[in-house]
Amino acid sequence: MGAVSNQGHQHTDVDTGSNQTDIVENNNTDSAQTSRAQTVTQDKKLFRCLVGKSAAMQRVRHEIEQVAQSDANVLILGQSGTGKEVVARNVHYHSSRGNKHFVPVNCGAIPHDLLESELFGHERGAFTGAITARQGRFSMAEGGTLFLDEIGEMTMAMQVKLLRVLEERVFERVGGTTSITADVRIIAATNRNLEDMVKQGKFREDLYFRLDVFPICLPTLAERIEDLPLLVKELISRLEQTKQSSVRFTPEAVVALSQYRWPGNVRELANQIERMAIKYPNGLVQANNLPERIRAQISEQAASGLEINDVSQVMKNVDKRCQDMTTPHLHIPAEGFDLKTYISNIEVNLIQDALDKSGGVIAHAAKSLGLRRTTLAEKMRKYQIERDPNTTTV
Ligand SMILES: Nc1ncnc2c1ncn2[C@@H]1O[C@H](COP(=O)(O)OP(=O)(O)OP(=O)(O)O)[C@@H](O)[C@H]1O
Ligand SMILES: [Mg+2]
Repeated sequence: MGAVSNQGHQHTDVDTGSNQTDIVENNNTDSAQTSRAQTVTQDKKLFRCLVGKSAAMQRVRHEIEQVAQSDANVLILGQSGTGKEVVARNVHYHSSRGNKHFVPVNCGAIPHDLLESELFGHERGAFTGAITARQGRFSMAEGGTLFLDEIGEMTMAMQVKLLRVLEERVFERVGGTTSITADVRIIAATNRNLEDMVKQGKFREDLYFRLDVFPICLPTLAERIEDLPLLVKELISRLEQTKQSSVRFTPEAVVALSQYRWPGNVRELANQIERMAIKYPNGLVQANNLPERIRAQISEQAASGLEINDVSQVMKNVDKRCQDMTTPHLHIPAEGFDLKTYISNIEVNLIQDALDKSGGVIAHAAKSLGLRRTTLAEKMRKYQIERDPNTTTV
């Protein structure tokens, strides 16, 4: 990764009254040694924030490395919850502006008529309610980075004003006449298809080209499912640090999680882990403890014989990297093993156990396994599992 500024810096949340601003404070230190130590700690923290060793995440890391040291505008594209803000922060921290402010603005969350003053500030009396003059996000980000999140939500009128700042590097506060110069790097992000918006006349083409100097496209979680065990581990350790709560997942539960499609990506995974930690505080979550929504999708896939994700890739990471969060630990024997047979055996054993415990009643056994009755019957046919001949009930 490119050289990070030698000045120590720390990421703190600064409440400016609208909870939109997140500022990196410059934390000057006297001792060069302390400074270096802080930089190393910060570096570790950043890499931890951007978990993933899949080819797709390695590409993203490489792109961050390539673009961070230039002053080029960056456009981060990706579905909701894929980590666009995490990437934006990494670009900032690894740039020469890393010891200055990182100022995020959610263009979709600020009412259209307030966005101009939010970005550029306003003079006293500029509009009703402007009792005092106020500096905008461009001024707060001076020397640093302005993160324009949800840029696709910006109105055409506001796009014109933004384009002017990007081209001329000057702006005026609302109600003011003095031109203020802006030394700000722009990183924009969106989950919308800006190219399509340009074609539909909803986004200015000239602004699009200005922002799209260096695009970084984030994969969905399903596209890098082998990273799921590492993400689970990271998200649990965050819970432990911030909420003093914890939870563990069996390897089978991790594999089950990796069979789900994750439409809300890493954010949805983080929410589900937090939910499990509340439901099973310090507990061990089994595959059949997972939320109904997740289990339902997995059983549907199993019933249709579809496997959306490559389980063997996931298992590699469960075994290597998540041993301390999964019980029992799995070890591949020296002579090697056949994953499909291994998983089938687990499935057969669990089905047999559920049938024994339910006295051979398929409906009850299916319930205890978190499966539909028809799915279990199908699996029994597939594995040629017979019910106890003494059982008469279905
Ligand atoms: N690669 C990753 N490693 C670790 N955590 C991640 C990663 N990607 C995302 N996250 C976590 O997932 C959550 C969502 O990330 P982030 O806010 O950056 O996504 P986003 O793409 O900006 O989402 P949205 O479009 O909903 O704003 C955060 O808690 C973030 O820390
Ligand atoms: Mg975001």
